[in-house]
Amino acid sequence: MSDWQKTDWRQKPRVQMPEYIDQGTLLKVEGQLSKYPPLVFAGEARNLKAKLAAASRGEAFLLQGGDCAESFDQFTADGIRDTFKVLLQMAMVLTFGAKVPVVKLGRMAGQFAKPRSAPTEVQNGVELPSYRGDIINELAFTPEARIPDPKKMLQAYTQSAATLNLLRAFSTGGYADMHQVHSWTLGFTEGEKATQYRQMAQRINDALDFMSAAGIGSDTAQELRTVDFFISHEALLLEYEEALTRLDSTSGKWLAGSGHLIWIGDRTRQPDGAHVEFCKGVQNPIGLKCGPSTSVEDLKVLMEKLNPQNEAGRLTLIARFGAGSVGDHLPRLINAVKEEGANVLWTCDAMHGNTIKSSTGYKTRPFDSVLREVREFFAIHSSEGTIPGGVHFEMTGQDVTECTGGVREVTEEDLSDRYHTACDPRLNASQSLELAFLVAEELVMHRESQKRQSAVSL
Ligand code: PEP
Ligand code: CO
Repeated sequence: MSDWQKTDWRQKPRVQMPEYIDQGTLLKVEGQLSKYPPLVFAGEARNLKAKLAAASRGEAFLLQGGDCAESFDQFTADGIRDTFKVLLQMAMVLTFGAKVPVVKLGRMAGQFAKPRSAPTEVQNGVELPSYRGDIINELAFTPEARIPDPKKMLQAYTQSAATLNLLRAFSTGGYADMHQVHSWTLGFTEGEKATQYRQMAQRINDALDFMSAAGIGSDTAQELRTVDFFISHEALLLEYEEALTRLDSTSGKWLAGSGHLIWIGDRTRQPDGAHVEFCKGVQNPIGLKCGPSTSVEDLKVLMEKLNPQNEAGRLTLIARFGAGSVGDHLPRLINAVKEEGANVLWTCDAMHGNTIKSSTGYKTRPFDSVLREVREFFAIHSSEGTIPGGVHFEMTGQDVTECTGGVREVTEEDLSDRYHTACDPRLNASQSLELAFLVAEELVMHRESQKRQSAVSL
């Protein structure tokens, strides 16, 4: 895509982006950001792409998770550590339970901008512009707080850089060492899943001890000491994305320097819109949310635009239909992919189709609906003979009460106790881990059903 320019999106219709009033400050901020170092490098994005390609062939599994929206106020080292830790625990459960390498991808270090269902919000008869994420405006319900402020991009950049710095330190500095698996017990001090996790941790430790005693090098193997951890976010605020886009001197291709994978949301995937125009020109792996309104025709055009070379690992289709609706939509989209012979990785976002308003007035997601959507996703891939390659969750390492259900049951009455999300409700540590066990079971079942099918066709 040699004639593509990082500013081309500006000629296309834009949706879900702020109209900045202070254009002078906007220009200054863009100028500043375009001189700052990129957060990620092209080699890392290519490494992730290769791993996603493996997942698309069923040789790995993608675990993508983190906050719905990162927040300036709730930014702490402990918060980052706890979410990272729960993601590692989930990955461990999947690797151990389903015997598959797990690609770990945070919705972290850049997940700030939010698309909204309505441009304005009404509270007690007062109407104000909607909150669009801390990179754009503020959650407080005052006219000043809701004015888009370009300077917030600088704070988002700084927070992303600091978050990524800590994640890199955790990934390679000893914290993620598999020999520590016993000590990652956060989030489940009680209950059946805690026992299940501890037993699994014990078996992993035994295996490591055995390897070390047999001289297989478990003490030194780099794979056991460090993890590859990647970051991702929705590429919504294109002024920010453009300013961090760099030409990679090795490949001569453009790279969005804001994160390893960026995705296009369900509300901004217009084939001729600004967001698709931007994403098509960068070499990063790209995610594309597919919801109930995604048509077969649009999907075909989008696959062609976003992955004209049909490169494996380039395009991840993130299905988010809602429990009970997966069967109405996923088969027709899988069929479109088959008709085009397109290389894609299919993953399941079991959150965004399952948001409801509780009787106590909170936005929530029932754990059972999340689980049901995952099960429907797997069942359809089993019957279509295609590969369920990953899952996508909004979750946190904190003990919040935002989604109802789970073994340590959160009731509708409990929601007000610790409801801290800046946007959508997240699974807490215990619910996330429980889900990981259930996803591992689904993966094992899927593999068995594939074996049965290939035995029948022999
Ligand atoms: C999100 O992932 O936070 C989001 C807004 O998702 P979607 O675009 O699928 O609604
Ligand atoms: Co969300």
